[in-house]
Amino acid sequence: MLKQCGSDENEHVPPGNALATGALDFLDADTGRTPVLALDLGVVADRYRALVSALPGTQVFYAMKANPHPAVLDLLSSLGCGIDAASTNEIDQALAHGIAPELISYGNTVRRGSEVAHATAAGIRLFAVDDQSELDKLIDHAPGAAALVRLNAEGSAAAWPLSRKFGTDVATAASILRRAADAGLGVGATFHVGSQQSDPASWDHALEQVAETVDLAGVADRPLVLNLGGGLPSTLADPTPALDAFADAILRGIDARLDGLDLTFAIEPGRFLVGDAGVIEAEVIGVVERPGQECSRWVFVDVGLFQGLSEASGETIRYPLTTKVAGPTAPAVVAGPTCDSTDILYELRPVDLPVALTSGDRIRLHGAGAYTVSCSSLGFNGFEPLRVEIA
Ligand SMILES: Cc1ncc(COP(=O)(O)O)c(C=O)c1O
Repeated sequence: MLKQCGSDENEHVPPGNALATGALDFLDADTGRTPVLALDLGVVADRYRALVSALPGTQVFYAMKANPHPAVLDLLSSLGCGIDAASTNEIDQALAHGIAPELISYGNTVRRGSEVAHATAAGIRLFAVDDQSELDKLIDHAPGAAALVRLNAEGSAAAWPLSRKFGTDVATAASILRRAADAGLGVGATFHVGSQQSDPASWDHALEQVAETVDLAGVADRPLVLNLGGGLPSTLADPTPALDAFADAILRGIDARLDGLDLTFAIEPGRFLVGDAGVIEAEVIGVVERPGQECSRWVFVDVGLFQGLSEASGETIRYPLTTKVAGPTAPAVVAGPTCDSTDILYELRPVDLPVALTSGDRIRLHGAGAYTVSCSSLGFNGFEPLRVEIA
């Protein structure tokens, strides 16, 4: 069934994505190759300031895996933001961009002993840990550091859950913390409620686990670092609550569960800080009919899973799509350019796109500043990686 849309509607940027005006203006004027990601640093600064004011007293550590562009790192460094690093390379990059070592947290719980030693030599003191064997590496290579035990938070309301691979249960977490304290390390807790989390109550469940762990480990009388993890959403096609709802739930959860503890607070958002700052412009390279399929119109674009949209796999991360092409719209499957059959963006829930859309037309994907350029392959199938421009 066709939906009647005027040109304005096809071009209409959803209100939540309209703040990246610098990126939109840049793309209006750009004549370079597609696909291109335009980044509006003003949005990154606004998001950072909004978060700091919503959670006063909480140090922000940007999860730079979301978008390690040097301009993003320089901006956040100048604002006093720290970095959540996943690897030696990320640590070295953060240091090179002026982040003080005490504002770098080593959040990846699996790493070589030599990598722990490298981080320690650089002055890093915050390490996430979720297994006794990983704690051994801290005891051996990071004397005096703080071990933040990572709990396995339930992430069912997240578009991109991070459970199972990381984190441990309360009983194991407590014995890790007890042993860390006995070995003379600082102690704390961390968790990740799942990326693009839509349920503010998720933090409360995780904070309850933290309280149980601290109690069971017998470390309630010690100074503790509490890292609230990532998970805050950016503005994508499926709506999520505003920042205030998450901040209220987090603050209420802390009051209810952790009252009386000597806590230093940290949070390590990735997507929330950079997602809304980015807009990708792509070119339509083919519109074809696949007879007999539930949705028979396929729109192929020059950006796909291998040019930075790997998070579209599973179709839970849904970027709002717009185009300047006018006229009525109808559902279409949207797919990337490579010969890989998994390179499909949206098929389970096809996207309404103009009937007149044809090869050479442009489409825009909004809210695309996170986990795109950092996930683009170097040249799979010979296609160029995602171009990035600061607007
Ligand atoms: C340890 C850690 N912290 C923070 C983040 C950032 O998560 P998000 O982008 O959902 O805020 C991630 C993402 O994978 C992570 O692995």
